[in-house]
Amino acid sequence: MIATRELTKRFKSVTAVDGITLEVADGELVALLGPNGAGKSTTLRMLTTLIPPTGGSAEVAGFDVVAKQREVRRRIGYIGQGNGAGHSQRGRDELISQGRAYGLPVRQARARAGELIESLGLGEVADRTVSSLSGGQRRRLDIAMGLIHAPELLFLDEPSTGLDPQNRANLQEHIVGLRREHGTTIVLTTHYLEEADSIAERVIVIDHGRIIADDTPQRLKAKHVGDRVFLGFGSETDATTAAGLLNGVREGDRVQVSADDGPRMVPGAIEELRTAGVAVHSVEVTRPTLDDVFLTLTGRSLRNEEA
Ligand SMILES: Nc1ncnc2c1ncn2[C@@H]1O[C@H](COP(=O)(O)OP(=O)(O)OP(=O)(O)O)[C@@H](O)[C@H]1O
Ligand SMILES: [Mg+2]
Repeated sequence: MIATRELTKRFKSVTAVDGITLEVADGELVALLGPNGAGKSTTLRMLTTLIPPTGGSAEVAGFDVVAKQREVRRRIGYIGQGNGAGHSQRGRDELISQGRAYGLPVRQARARAGELIESLGLGEVADRTVSSLSGGQRRRLDIAMGLIHAPELLFLDEPSTGLDPQNRANLQEHIVGLRREHGTTIVLTTHYLEEADSIAERVIVIDHGRIIADDTPQRLKAKHVGDRVFLGFGSETDATTAAGLLNGVREGDRVQVSADDGPRMVPGAIEELRTAGVAVHSVEVTRPTLDDVFLTLTGRSLRNEEA
């Protein structure tokens, strides 16, 4: 669905995207994750033909984004980081005209608008003018606009930013449903690490315009961070013995051990310690987040940058 080679965008002195080579297969749900200014939106804007690359190349749905703009545009949906809907019309009418602009017959455009209004929870506000909607309602209307023609490939730039938790969950369900029921290929950007972790099958971490990691969330976490197991003991002496046996780090009467799969290593560790005459008093396993992955890769935290 997408194939880029050394895709690059320079704005005067800023290299926003610095040689990105990637492939996205039919039906994948991919999240681009990275701090402010990493080059996520610029990448999406090149892939959606809105701005031309200054280097490298990209094909989307089999067409070159520079030479075959129109072919690309016909096959994709794009929901940008800003708002797209006009202001003085009713939300429902905006949706229907968008559907018509994509070539749907009026009856189908109406039916499709009705479905999206329902599934994005816009029923109570769809017949008001767009300018009277709240930020989150407007955001959901924008998303409906991008979905009206049921594209095979969908680009979403921070779709859930500004939504409350309830609507964010609804939207995530909708996105996962598009993938499951229609096989839609979806590329989204997000600042919500939990969102990338829970809905994306593949996470591409971008920093300073480059891809620094690309894998399933599970593998990224296992490979770059791993689980941490904290074992508590009755005395510092026991903890010292345990730290030696398990190759862990002692702090007071606690020992921290790294493991690929924490819950699985615990029973064996307890058994080994028992044989050595050391009783375990408490166990705690912490599993990494994608933020820990970013921290390991860059020495910076995505959460702190956001704050
Ligand atoms: N039109 C432009 N002119 C000059 N510089 C730009 C332009 N658009 C983007 N940039 C710069 O390119 C870099 C990447 O911006 P981009 O919007 O792609 O980041 P992003 O990863 O989407 O960030 P955010 O998480 O804040 O949305 C930034 O340094 C930005 O200032
Ligand atoms: Mg952006």
